Amino acid sequence: MIELIQVSKTFVTRGQTVHALAPTDLTVPQGSVYGLLGFSGAGKSTLLRLINRLEEPSGGQVRVAGADLTGLSQHALRQARQQVGMIFQQFNLLSSRTALENVALSLEIAGLPRARQHARAREALAAVGLSDKEKAYPAQLSGGQKQRVAIARALATDPKILLCDEATSALDPHTALSILRLLKQLNRERGMTMVMVTHDIKVASYLCEHAVILEKGRVVDRIDMQAPQPQSLLGKFFFETAKGWTDQTALPQEDA
Ligand SMILES: Nc1ncnc2c1ncn2[C@@H]1O[C@H](COP(=O)(O)OP(=O)(O)OP(=O)(O)O)[C@@H](O)[C@H]1O
Ligand SMILES: [Mg+2]
Repeated sequence: MIELIQVSKTFVTRGQTVHALAPTDLTVPQGSVYGLLGFSGAGKSTLLRLINRLEEPSGGQVRVAGADLTGLSQHALRQARQQVGMIFQQFNLLSSRTALENVALSLEIAGLPRARQHARAREALAAVGLSDKEKAYPAQLSGGQKQRVAIARALATDPKILLCDEATSALDPHTALSILRLLKQLNRERGMTMVMVTHDIKVASYLCEHAVILEKGRVVDRIDMQAPQPQSLLGKFFFETAKGWTDQTALPQEDA
């Protein structure tokens, strides 16, 4: 469903060059949930944003559902992006709009006739269990409810792929699990392909079939989450932390 071939990203700002992602291959099978794990600055968000071309690759090819995203015009890119929804750590809702209006906005952008926007937005809110909150403003919602609105907004256009950037990092464990359950349900019932950025191995263990571990812009481990056998020091560290930290837990970097 998603294929990255030798995709790389270098940022150049005010004479400074940051190699955010070394040439990377990644294949995400249709209907699967794929994890991108790593510490802060590893390049997880950059890799995720390359999938829907929110970042322009410095090299390589991005293929989504068989189409090469790198060669598309702005118009064709807008259409291709409708197959890809995205949710974020900080929810990114518009504070001046109600829950329903936030969801309807994505339909407006997708070009759905105005008369049908609210009905579709209501369906999406119902799918995330928030029918009773359609008139609420973001400030009147809890973090978990805000993330549900954001998921409804992403779902409303019926995308084939959902990209999640630390979607549960700002939530308490109880609320986080309820959101992860919702995502799992969407994956199972709609066959939606998902890519999840996380630094939390528990999130990846619960939801992902495959994961890569990123370190300083490179994939250092590729993990089958059903039978994890991390090879890298960082990969081993991630799985150690899932058991809880002890004085014996080895840090992956000497200077960490
Ligand atoms: N727009 C940008 N301009 C310049 N450098 C950038 C830009 N976006 C990201 N970077 C750099 O690219 C590297 C990877 O950043 P990225 O945001 O992908 O990391 P991350 O793994 O998502 O980290 P975090 O867990 O903190 O979100 C970092 O060194 C970052 O400073
Ligand atoms: Mg990030």
